[in-house]
Amino acid sequence: MIVGVPKEIKNNESRVGMTPAGVFELVKNNHTVYVQSGAGEGSGFFNDDYQQAGATILDTIGQVYAMSEMIVKVKEPIAEEYNLIQKDQIVFTYFHFASSETLTKAMIASKAICIAYETVEDEDGTLPLLTPMSEVAGRMAIQQGAKYLEKPKKGRGVLLGGVPGVAPGRVLVLGAGTVGIQAAKMAAGLGAHVTILDINMKRLRYVNDVMPSHVVTEFSNEFNIRKHIKDHDLIIGGVLLKGAKAPNLITREMLKDMRPGTVIVDVAVDQGGCVETTRPTTHEDPIYIIDDVVHYSVANMPGAVPYTSTMALTNVTLPYVLKLANMGWRSACNFDKSLAKGLNIVEGKVVYEEIAEAFSWEPAMA
Ligand SMILES: NC(=O)c1ccc[n+]([C@@H]2O[C@H](COP(=O)([O-])OP(=O)(O)OC[C@H]3O[C@@H](n4cnc5c(N)ncnc54)[C@H](O)[C@@H]3O)[C@@H](O)[C@H]2O)c1
Repeated sequence: MIVGVPKEIKNNESRVGMTPAGVFELVKNNHTVYVQSGAGEGSGFFNDDYQQAGATILDTIGQVYAMSEMIVKVKEPIAEEYNLIQKDQIVFTYFHFASSETLTKAMIASKAICIAYETVEDEDGTLPLLTPMSEVAGRMAIQQGAKYLEKPKKGRGVLLGGVPGVAPGRVLVLGAGTVGIQAAKMAAGLGAHVTILDINMKRLRYVNDVMPSHVVTEFSNEFNIRKHIKDHDLIIGGVLLKGAKAPNLITREMLKDMRPGTVIVDVAVDQGGCVETTRPTTHEDPIYIIDDVVHYSVANMPGAVPYTSTMALTNVTLPYVLKLANMGWRSACNFDKSLAKGLNIVEGKVVYEEIAEAFSWEPAMA
C-alpha cells in the first residue's frame, strides 16, 4: 500500500502521525511511504531521518494526499484539507466527529474511509489510542500546576515537595483513571501530599495498593470535595463519564472556600471540565483567574511536548497502521474487532451510531 504522512497544519500542532521507526516497519513490509517535507520537524524528526528509514520526501501536502492510498496523521483534517481527501482513501487520525458537524459533512462528501483513533476500542471497553495522551496530560498536569503555584505566576507560592522543616504542598486529584493516577504518581514523586478521589472502588483499591502511603484515597462525593478544596494547593480534574459531559464537581460558589492562589488544572476540559468555571485555553494563554483561583485548562496539553507525545501515540497506532496496510481496511477490520470500532464514516455513510445521534440526524442520513 502507499501510505502518506502529511505535516499537521492545525494551529500549534507539532506532532506527526509517524516516526522514522514506523516508516522502517512499513517499508520492511514492502509498502511505500511518502512523508511531506518538514512533517516531523516539530517532533524532532528530520527529512534525512525519514529518508534513511526508507521514505520518499514530497514537497507539498497536496502531493502527499494525491499520491497515497492511506493517510496517517494526528489531528482531524481542517478546512484546507477537506478537498485534498479522495474517494476510497483511508484516513487514520483523531477525528472527534461529534464535536463538528462541518467536518462530518465534509468527510461524508469525500467518500473516504475515516477511521478514528479515539473510537478504536478494546474488548474491555478501554480506548487504547487515547490512553497515551491521557498519560502525557496527567503527568504534565503536575508540572504545570507546580509552575503556576509559584508566586510570580499568581499561585500561592508553595513548593510542592516542601523542604526539611516545612510541610509539603497538598494535591487533590479528582478521578483515579489514567490522568488521575499519572498525576498522583508525579505529585507523590515530588514529595507532595496527595488525596485522590473516585467513585469507582476498584480504582481506589488499585491506587491504595500501588501508591506510597502519602497518597491517600477517599470516595468522591460533595462532602469530601468541599472539605478538601479548603486546604489543598493544587487541584487536578481528571474525571470522565464516557461519552458525556464531565460533571461539575466544583461549582463557582465553592471557589470562595479555596485559599487565594490555589491552582486548578482541569484536564477534563475537553469534555466540558469538572469545574463549573472551566473554559478552554491555549498554550499561548493557558491560565485565567476567578476569585483569586488560578485556572489552567488547555484543551490539547500533549501538544506542548510533541516529541514525547508523538512517540507515545505512534507506539500504539503503528500495529493498526501495519494491519491496515498489510490486509486492506475491510479484511483488517473483519479480523480485528477493536480496529473495526474505529470505523466512523465509510464511503459517504456514517457507520458510528453516536455521531448521527450527536447531530440528531435522521437514520436515512446515517
Ligand atoms: N486536556 C487535555 O489535553 C487532555 C488530554 C488527555 C485526556 N484528557 C481528558 O482527561 C479526562 C480524563 O481522562 P482519563 O483517560 O483519565 O479517563 P478515565 O476513564 O481513565 O478516568 C476517569 C475517572 O473518572 C472517574 N469518575 C467518574 N465520575 C467521578 C466523580 N464524580 N468523582 C470522581 N471520579 C469520577 C471514573 O471512575 C474514572 O476512574 C477525559 O475527559 C479526557 O478526555 C484531556
